[in-house]
Amino acid sequence: MAENSPRAPVRAFVTGYPVRHSRSPMIHRYWLKTLGIAGFYDAIEVEPERFPDFVKSLRAAGISGGNVTIPHKEVAFSLADIRNEAAEEIGAVNTLWFDEAGLLNGGNTDAYGFLANMDDFAPGWDLNRTALVLGAGGASRAIVYALKSRGFTEIRVVNRTLKRAAELVDHFDSRVSAHNWEEVDELVTDAGLVVNTTSLGMHGTGEIPLDLGKAAASAVVTDIVYVPLETPILRRARQSGLKTVDGLGMLLHQAVPGFEKWFGVRPDVTPELREIILSDLVSPAQQGTDA
Ligand code: ATR
Repeated sequence: MAENSPRAPVRAFVTGYPVRHSRSPMIHRYWLKTLGIAGFYDAIEVEPERFPDFVKSLRAAGISGGNVTIPHKEVAFSLADIRNEAAEEIGAVNTLWFDEAGLLNGGNTDAYGFLANMDDFAPGWDLNRTALVLGAGGASRAIVYALKSRGFTEIRVVNRTLKRAAELVDHFDSRVSAHNWEEVDELVTDAGLVVNTTSLGMHGTGEIPLDLGKAAASAVVTDIVYVPLETPILRRARQSGLKTVDGLGMLLHQAVPGFEKWFGVRPDVTPELREIILSDLVSPAQQGTDA
């Protein structure tokens, strides 16, 4: 490129299959607009069998990077030239970017998004370092990593299928333990934090079998599901007088590091952005745990 020629606008994307439900374009376009950046951020639906070719085509297409959502996160992990610590620990990549050497970097910003959301809405939430994590799917691993990196010393993972919890726990050290649902009412008594990562409660359906009446008065309860914003467990926690944090802020904050990588400016998660996304969460058919 000639020295004085104008730089082409930066392009980024979110890809998934399907990707229609993604709010990422709304988030990133809000930041592009409010920061006055002439960049692009598009949703690109890519079938699983085409995903490796899609990733290989990015550099030649002049694309700076993007977000990766279900079902591509594990394949993105294997296709990245380099991965950051969070991606390695979580075993999945949700953010791709090219570095100055032209290498494709894979990161995972879910743990960051979780922590930033908790810090925003429940300062001091991490003073009691014992946590109860409900569920042992892909999302759970990001939460366990987040809690570990924040210095939690007891992270108890409860799952319907104990084997799956045991497999998850295997990726971590002895601070993380696997448990049956039968143990949950006992485990909740000394937890400073209860995190729901199960799909129970998504779209307002499914009650989690857990007696929040046994929780400490200082316990904080959060859900990574944000449709509905107040999931059944959050409603029960509120009714029990416990502090609650909904999952929407995690979605907003996990987008920050990617935007900064691609567009060179660290954006803010503002109340206005939250309102914009909230007003889009009207249809109960919309998926609500992912980017
Ligand atoms: P994600 O990657 O978003 O975490 P997932 O891998 O499908 O999604 O995991 C869903 C989680 O919700 C799992 O912990 C699952 O428990 P199992 O591993 O036993 O399947 C949990 N879950 C889903 N439906 C459930 C139900 N009806 N009762 C209890 N747990 C349920």
